Amino acid sequence: TARVTLRTIRKKYDAGEPLTMVTAYDYPSAVHVDTAGIDILLVGDSAAMVVHGHDTTLPISLDDMTSHCRAVARGARRAFLVGDLPFGCYETDPRDAVKSAVRMLKEGGMDAVKLEGGSPARVEAARAIVETGVAVMGHVGLTPQSVSAIGGFRPQAQVAEEALRVLDQAQALQRAGCFALVLECVPGPIAAGITRVLSIPTIGIGAGGECSGQVLVYHDLLGMMSHPHHAKVTPKFCKQYARVGDIIGSALQRYRQEVEERVFPGPQYSPYRMPEQEVRSLA
Ligand code: KIV
Ligand code: NA
Repeated sequence: TARVTLRTIRKKYDAGEPLTMVTAYDYPSAVHVDTAGIDILLVGDSAAMVVHGHDTTLPISLDDMTSHCRAVARGARRAFLVGDLPFGCYETDPRDAVKSAVRMLKEGGMDAVKLEGGSPARVEAARAIVETGVAVMGHVGLTPQSVSAIGGFRPQAQVAEEALRVLDQAQALQRAGCFALVLECVPGPIAAGITRVLSIPTIGIGAGGECSGQVLVYHDLLGMMSHPHHAKVTPKFCKQYARVGDIIGSALQRYRQEVEERVFPGPQYSPYRMPEQEVRSLA
């Protein structure tokens, strides 16, 4: 199967076919997402939360992100690979942004990068990266890297003034050369309006059904963290397509029980033998 490129993405968008995107963080998740035929694989900075256990996406470093990217790139053969630029590596200066983006491609093996926000400075960063020859995906609405300024993970653009600002940001990012935009946690009608106005695809998460595509976080859609005592909740907008956490939990409990009862490994999983006389010679 041929690799998904910007041209493949453009063709689907032009044909009105929904684009599919899922996050992945390591080799096995990349193999799973890729072989399921998902178009775009995002190495999200949500890794900070779902892989490293932080409460926000802020702590993850560019080094850690490139390491996740490399593992994902080894596992993906078909999907278009987008890597999140982490908090703190692109905001201060467009030159920092370009350097960080180049690392995500050269060291991380990504096809494109994603950055958050649509302020004039972010738009400049996006433009500088695009001019370097690196494809950029934008991200507006709820931008988790701004959780400190927003005051929590809260839905965005619920009043007209804010909705118009998100639209302005989306248009500015399109003009800067972004090939697509994530719309996170904005009302469906607002996302639909932005999608109609733009001429690049929108990828929604908690943004209703009329975006050009949808994205979910791997661990959330698989129900990986469904443990009753686990503090992190699956977001309201996320459908759980499985309860993989329960499957993992019961497998591990059965293993523990079988070892404790000396049922495992038993003869079936004890494959290495020595001829009888050799065993006797050791006695
Ligand atoms: O980091 C992430 O997982 C993301 C998606 C939710 C779009 O940015
Ligand atoms: Na992200």
